[in-house]
Amino acid sequence: MYQFFKGAQTVGSFFPSTPILASKIVKHIDFSSAKLIVEVGPGTGVFTRKILKKLSKNAVFIAFELNEKFYNKLKIDIIDPRFVLINGSAEDLQTYLVQNGYLEVDYLISSIPLSNFKGKKIVTLLHSFRDLIGEKGTFIQFQYSFNQKRLFHKMFSKVLMDFTQFNIPPAFIYVCKN
Ligand SMILES: C[S@@+](CC[C@H](N)C(=O)[O-])C[C@H]1O[C@@H](n2cnc3c(N)ncnc32)[C@H](O)[C@@H]1O
Repeated sequence: MYQFFKGAQTVGSFFPSTPILASKIVKHIDFSSAKLIVEVGPGTGVFTRKILKKLSKNAVFIAFELNEKFYNKLKIDIIDPRFVLINGSAEDLQTYLVQNGYLEVDYLISSIPLSNFKGKKIVTLLHSFRDLIGEKGTFIQFQYSFNQKRLFHKMFSKVLMDFTQFNIPPAFIYVCKN
C-alpha cells in the first residue's frame, strides 16, 4: 500500500484495483487460445494472479513492472514456470520481446497511468503496443478517466469500452484491436 502513496506519479492510484475490475479485464481473454499474454504494470498482482489461475499449461505470461518494490515482492510471491517477471519499463517491452523471439502478443494488459506520459511518449508507446498485438491480438487498458478515448480510437480500428464503479477510483476499460 505504501508504494501506492509514495509513487503516486508512476503508480497512478492510492489503492490496488478491486477483484471486480480484475474480473472485468480478465473476462476479455480467451484462455483456450492465448499462448502469450503480457502485462505491464502488475503492481501488487491483482490481475496477474487471476490470469495465472486461468492460464493454460503451455502458455507464457510476461510482466513488466517499473517499481522495484512491487517487482521484488511479486518475484517472491509468484513462482510459476509459465511466468516471467521483468523489472523494467513498458517502453522497453517491444525490444525485450523481439530479442527473445516473441513477435506477436495474444493479449497485452496494461494498467500503467498513460496520462503521466508526456508529449509524444504516449503515442510512441501505443504504437509499440499496436505493433505487438498484430492482426489477431488484443490490447486491454484501464484508466481512471476517458481522457485518452479519442487517441485509442485514432490508433486502433476497434475499441470496446467498459466501466466499473466498483473500484477506487472508478475505472474505464478499453479493449482495443487492430
Ligand atoms: C495504477 S497501478 C496498477 C497496479 C495493478 N495492476 C492494479 O491494478 O492494482 C500502475 C502500475 O504500473 C506501474 N508502472 C508505471 N509506469 C510503468 C512503466 N512505464 N512500465 C511498467 N510499469 C509501470 C506502476 O509501478 C504500478 O505498479
